[in-house]
Amino acid sequence: MNKDINNLDPLILRVIKGGKTERPPFWYMRQAGRSLPEYRALREKHSMLELIRTPELATEVTLQPLRRFNPDGAIIFADILNPLIGMGMELEFIEGKGPVFNNPLKSTADIKKLLVPDAEENVGYTLKALSEVRRSLPTKEHCLLGFAGAPFTLSYYMIESRGSKEGILIKGLLSSDLEGWNLLQEKLVALVVNYLLAQVKAGAQVVQIFDTWLGLLTPSLFAQFVKPWLQKLVEDFKKSCSAPIVYYSQSSLGFAHEFLDIGFSALSVDWRQSLTLAAKITDNKFPLQGNLDPTLLCGEWQLLKQEASKVLSEGKDLPSGHIMNLGHGILPQSRLENIEKLSEYIRSYRYIGSAT
Ligand code: CP3
Repeated sequence: MNKDINNLDPLILRVIKGGKTERPPFWYMRQAGRSLPEYRALREKHSMLELIRTPELATEVTLQPLRRFNPDGAIIFADILNPLIGMGMELEFIEGKGPVFNNPLKSTADIKKLLVPDAEENVGYTLKALSEVRRSLPTKEHCLLGFAGAPFTLSYYMIESRGSKEGILIKGLLSSDLEGWNLLQEKLVALVVNYLLAQVKAGAQVVQIFDTWLGLLTPSLFAQFVKPWLQKLVEDFKKSCSAPIVYYSQSSLGFAHEFLDIGFSALSVDWRQSLTLAAKITDNKFPLQGNLDPTLLCGEWQLLKQEASKVLSEGKDLPSGHIMNLGHGILPQSRLENIEKLSEYIRSYRYIGSAT
């Protein structure tokens, strides 16, 4: 067991450091957002970017799910894409469609023009919200999570915008312009490291990196074009910060062994793989976060409970610890009473003597 574990640490942090807890801590990806009526009410008055850019509103939205479900973690309300605005990307969130860039990257010249702004100037509003949320956490056992997109997933949006779901354009860049690809990764790594360090300074206790589109890659493309940049990102971050990094990716089981020497503190896994298998492939090295299928929140409680119980019992047997979560974000169609019941169910679960 790690000697810096402190029993006053938030539960999520204790698990990541290798400590014991009486139940798994939990939070939900996209726990703030359209599944909540109080969020939808705010969205009627403000655009997505207004919510993100107004620290009081971002603070309020971050705290909304805590009041309703009392998860052990608060994830700051922002998006992986808004920090790219300061690089020169024209981002819009279109109703019913999601994010779009009006100037997707098309050439090396476009990549050369991208700026690497300082976090304070670029996203000072999120940093302010982080400090405010940290002060407002209900107890010291609750954890504040910061986050950023991973360079590959950010590149996907910058290049494809609303383009192909297969990644034809992004893989086209890998095959035709290595110099352009490397320049883009270098700039994104600098942006993300600077942003994550500023988030920790502002109050984030753990940071999560989202690599949602990683499963587009083959194992060898990952090793060749993506892994070295993740290594650089983690190495640069760790030069000045000891906060843990949780890495989320999807459909990446085929190359999850490659995550072993990147320096992540925990892995967040999607629902397509069992926790047991993910642990085996990664030599039981990481605490694992996940991995309930989020669509089950839209259906009947019985099946949701069955699958939640399965995830909890697999989690209980993980040698390096478990943080309960979903395998991807909460969908807007989720039934509120399901999220409420699930939260109670997880809160009352005990590692010792727990009936399923
Ligand atoms: O988890 C949280 O509650 C914190 C906030 C958060 C948002 N986006 C808010 C959001 C986080 C952590 C994200 C991460 C994010 N954003 C990812 C990685 C995780 C994942 O879900 O795969 C990605 C790929 C994005 C990009 C993005 N933002 C997409 C593809 C979309 C459209 C899909 C959708 O759900 O609408 C968004 C919009 C978005 N980001 C919303 C929210 C609350 C909906 C905005 C609205 O209110 O209309």
